[in-house]
Amino acid sequence: MAPRISLTQYLVEKQREKGLIPAELRLLLEVVARTCKRIGYAVSRGAIDGVLGDAGSSNVQGEAQKKLDVIANEALLEANEWGGNLAAMASEEMYELYPIPHRYPKGEFLLLYDPLDGSSNIDVNVSVGTIFSVLRLPEGVKEPREEHFMQPGTRQVAAGYALYGPSTLLVLTVGDGVACFTLGKEIGSWWLTAERMHVPEQTREFAINASNARHWHPPVRRYVDELLAGREGPRGVDFNMRWVASMVADVHRILCRGGIFMYPRDNREPDKPGKLRLLYEASPMSFLIEQAGGAATNGHQRIMEIVPTTLHERVAVFLGSKAEVERVTSYHREHG
Ligand code: AHG
Ligand code: MN
Ligand code: MN
Repeated sequence: MAPRISLTQYLVEKQREKGLIPAELRLLLEVVARTCKRIGYAVSRGAIDGVLGDAGSSNVQGEAQKKLDVIANEALLEANEWGGNLAAMASEEMYELYPIPHRYPKGEFLLLYDPLDGSSNIDVNVSVGTIFSVLRLPEGVKEPREEHFMQPGTRQVAAGYALYGPSTLLVLTVGDGVACFTLGKEIGSWWLTAERMHVPEQTREFAINASNARHWHPPVRRYVDELLAGREGPRGVDFNMRWVASMVADVHRILCRGGIFMYPRDNREPDKPGKLRLLYEASPMSFLIEQAGGAATNGHQRIMEIVPTTLHERVAVFLGSKAEVERVTSYHREHG
């Protein structure tokens, strides 16, 4: 059996042999990965440590925070503030960006994250995860401000997620394909278990919260109606539906066996461009999916090319197998 490759070895290779990432980015990614182990551990302790349930507070989006949302957010802040590789952090669970305190050295990267994705699933023991994205502070900037985070997804230098499921996984891209690491809990190492992941092109699976069907816009309705019509419909095959309500879990399934994930804009709150957050969810997931040969749009344009205007901006999301994403995007185009 070939010797296993650890996350450290994988990243050192990207740094040393391929010159793809600087040492500072490698160290930063190792700290994020280590923190995900900590978060995964806290998630797994659950009721034993009394960490389930609501925190009694709400985030900037007005969503009730779970205790584990707060714990995960703080774990990422604490672990990443002193390493010297970051200039600032931004999180779904914080109102404003978090500049690195002056008592620590400052680096050139910006870390953005959704500390715990799928938090409605925590109390019922369904998979949750952590999503992260890394940008570079624009050159010449000394004090990071919100405007410096307003970079399109194409500028990401790394993105990934941890998935706290039956196995704890770390899925990562530094712009050279997508790799998956599995946590060996006995000695706490991340082992490379899948490299150059590829979203299968042929798919018969889709993911959308169908309880919102009555609010959908015509292009989404048309696309889903065709899928639902199955063998007798225009697609000529039966499709299957899955919705975990943890984006990490739904996206991971799509990375492994194909499919399309949709969280469209709808008529519930017509002014909101969708539910998911561009910087903490849509952008990193789009980077991963594109690196694995899939596609990601907001129905009109590539998510990776959207230039954000605010930190907590939301966006409609269609991502997964390329042909399916292109089809639903073309329905939006036809509809105008
Ligand atoms: P979060 O827990 O970080 O707020 O994200 C939840 C997101 C995403 O993970 C999931 O795909 C979606 O919300 C589920 O939304 P619905 O409950 O509307 O289906
Ligand atoms: Mn989320
Ligand atoms: Mn979250």
